[in-house]
Amino acid sequence: MKPKVLVTREVFDETIAYLEQHCDVEANQPDVPLSPAELKARLADKQGLMCALTDRVDAAVLEAAPQLKVAANIAVGYNNIDVPACTARAVMVTNTPGELDDSTADLAWTLMLGAARRITEVERYIRQGDWKGWRLKQWLGIDAHHATLGVVGMGRIGQAIAKRASGFDMQVLYHNRKRVDAAIEQRLNATYASLEDVLKRSDFVVLQVPYSPETHHLIGAAQLKLMKPTAILINSTRGGVVDDAALIDALRSGTIRAAGLDVFENEPHLNPAFLQLDNVVLAPHIGSSTEATRRAMAMTAAKNMVAALTGAVPPNLVNPDARKR
Ligand code: DGY
Repeated sequence: MKPKVLVTREVFDETIAYLEQHCDVEANQPDVPLSPAELKARLADKQGLMCALTDRVDAAVLEAAPQLKVAANIAVGYNNIDVPACTARAVMVTNTPGELDDSTADLAWTLMLGAARRITEVERYIRQGDWKGWRLKQWLGIDAHHATLGVVGMGRIGQAIAKRASGFDMQVLYHNRKRVDAAIEQRLNATYASLEDVLKRSDFVVLQVPYSPETHHLIGAAQLKLMKPTAILINSTRGGVVDDAALIDALRSGTIRAAGLDVFENEPHLNPAFLQLDNVVLAPHIGSSTEATRRAMAMTAAKNMVAALTGAVPPNLVNPDARKR
C-alpha cells in the first residue's frame, strides 16, 4: 500500500509523476486554494502533505490529520507551519533551502535597480504616451554603483545578494543575529555592523531575515527615521518584517526615497495606499519564480516528502526531534 499524500497547490507534471511512483497522490492541479476546513477534510486520511506558504498548518489542522507524518513546504520559509505543534505530534517539517538563493537575490537586485532608476514610473509614462522628447533633467535616478549596500539577514540569500554587489563596486555592510565567519566576510567584502548603523549608513537596505515573532515589524517608524532620506528599502523576504503603514508614511513624507517590495503584510490584500505611491516598485511575491527554480523547489519538496514516508531522513528536515518521537 502506497502512503496517501495531498499536494495542496498546482505543481509541475514531473513532480506529480515522481510522487506517483511512491505515493497515492491527491493533487490540486486546478490550483484552487483550499480553505482551512477543506484542508482538514482532505488530510483526514493522509500521511503526507506537500504544501505552500498559502496553507496554514496549525494545531487545529494537525488535530484533523491523525496519520500525518510529514509537511513538506515548497519554500525555504516555513512561517506558515506551526513547527513546535508538528514536532509534538511527530510530524516532520521540511523546506527547500538552497534552491532559490540566486533567483531570490536576482529579484532583490531587480527591485533595487528598478527603484533606483524609477523603472516602473518611466514605463507607465511611456505607455501613457506622455514622452515628448529627451531632457537633461528627466527622470533622474540614483546610482547603485559605488553606493553602500546594507544587507539585513546574512543567510544564504543575503550572501547571494551581497556577492552581486562587487560588480557594482559597492561597499557592503550587513547585520545578522550572529556574525558570519570571517572567511565569508572576506569573500563578500562585507563589514558587520549593528542594525542601527546599517540603517544609518546604507544607500540601499535589503531585508532578508526570516519572519518570526522576533522579526515582526523589525522595520517600523523609528527604524525608517534612521535611514538616509535618499535611501531605498527592499523587502524580498516576508511581509510583516516591515510595518507597512509606517513605510507608507515614510514614502509619502520623504523620510526615505523609495522602496522595492516583493512581499506585504496580509498579502495578497496589500495596503491600497501602496498603489497610490510612485516611489515604490511592487512585485507579487515572485522572488523565487523562475521556471528552473520553481521546478527545483517542487521536486525538492517532493523528495523530502518521499524520504520522510519511506523511513529515510529527509534532506531538508527542519525539526529533527520529530523523528525521535
Ligand atoms: C520562500 O521560499 O520562502 C519563498 O518566499 C516562496 O516563494
